[in-house]
Amino acid sequence: MPDRPLLELQGLKRHFPVRGLFNRRVGTLRALDGVDLAVAPGEVLGIVGESGCGKSTLGKTIMGIHAPSDGAVLFDGAQVAGGGVRRPDGLRAQLQYVYQDPGASLDPSWTLRRSLHEPLVIHTKLRRAEREARIQEIVAAVGLPAAHLDLYPHEISGGQQRRVGLARILVLGPKLVILDEPTSGLDVSVQAAVLALFRELRQAFGLTYLFISHDLAVVRSMCHRVAVMYLGRVVEIGPVAEIFARPRHPYTQALLSAAPRIGGPRVTENFALQGEPPDPSQMPEGCRFSVRCRWAAPQCKVEPALEDGVACWRWRELAAGLVPAAAE
Ligand SMILES: Nc1ncnc2c1ncn2[C@@H]1O[C@H](COP(=O)(O)OP(=O)(O)O)[C@@H](O)[C@H]1O
Ligand SMILES: [Mg+2]
Repeated sequence: MPDRPLLELQGLKRHFPVRGLFNRRVGTLRALDGVDLAVAPGEVLGIVGESGCGKSTLGKTIMGIHAPSDGAVLFDGAQVAGGGVRRPDGLRAQLQYVYQDPGASLDPSWTLRRSLHEPLVIHTKLRRAEREARIQEIVAAVGLPAAHLDLYPHEISGGQQRRVGLARILVLGPKLVILDEPTSGLDVSVQAAVLALFRELRQAFGLTYLFISHDLAVVRSMCHRVAVMYLGRVVEIGPVAEIFARPRHPYTQALLSAAPRIGGPRVTENFALQGEPPDPSQMPEGCRFSVRCRWAAPQCKVEPALEDGVACWRWRELAAGLVPAAAE
């Protein structure tokens, strides 16, 4: 990666209070618990992990919906969150967050044209004719006929609504788009078309994606690199081809072995992992995966750092030749 990262996260944390009887604070839920990541311009970085591991909190903290409890978010080299910095005004247009179906948030009583003008009215100083020209360009790029602009959401198909929803985001000229479970609930055939559209739009507009999904097959087909999250931390990160061919962290190995093969049953968020599902308000001591790990050893009472793309003591010993590989 020769370029400066477009997005950089440094020790990013987001904790939530856990409240008990009479709204008393009884604990802390560590939804994000020290994430370091760098995303290159034009890259598609996948974020995977079980439900509740902090994927959406990661997206929302980058977006500024949540303030970091600690750590920093840097965008294009400048710190935009954490450490008390004020979020720059222009950032809103450059960073967009798409939660599931972007077509679902269209106002049913507005024509598509009005829905597309609105973000430009709010976030830019463009005059009406300039806005209209921009909208025409984007609408063509997402594959919608310009004549549709006078229609209302209920007059077009769900797939077309999705395209309008994406157009609404793209008119602002974002650099980074956070896609949070963008294909969940879609039929496989529709999913393929939606993924193809994401790829085309990335090319056409030079976008960078943070692609959050629990569907490993989708991540494999879309992303350059993938970060595996467990209880608020990245436990493994690397190029998609390497992670899928040679997962190193025991959690990644479990995730991949639990994923159904092509043609098998649909991927669900409930991975077949041993032990209790993780609870971010009851954080295990040391390595947070150790309570479910078949390789857990006394050294795992100390939390391993993410080094060389993996946070695992056993892996470090294997790499150093201290454990015979045959013992696996
Ligand atoms: N606003 C919030 N207040 C309190 N807890 C939250 C809030 N948002 C998320 N959480 C908790 O943080 C953890 C991570 O949630 P989330 O980021 O939504 O996970 P994921 O997207 O990976 O399924 C969960 O335990 C969730 O209940
Ligand atoms: Mg989520």
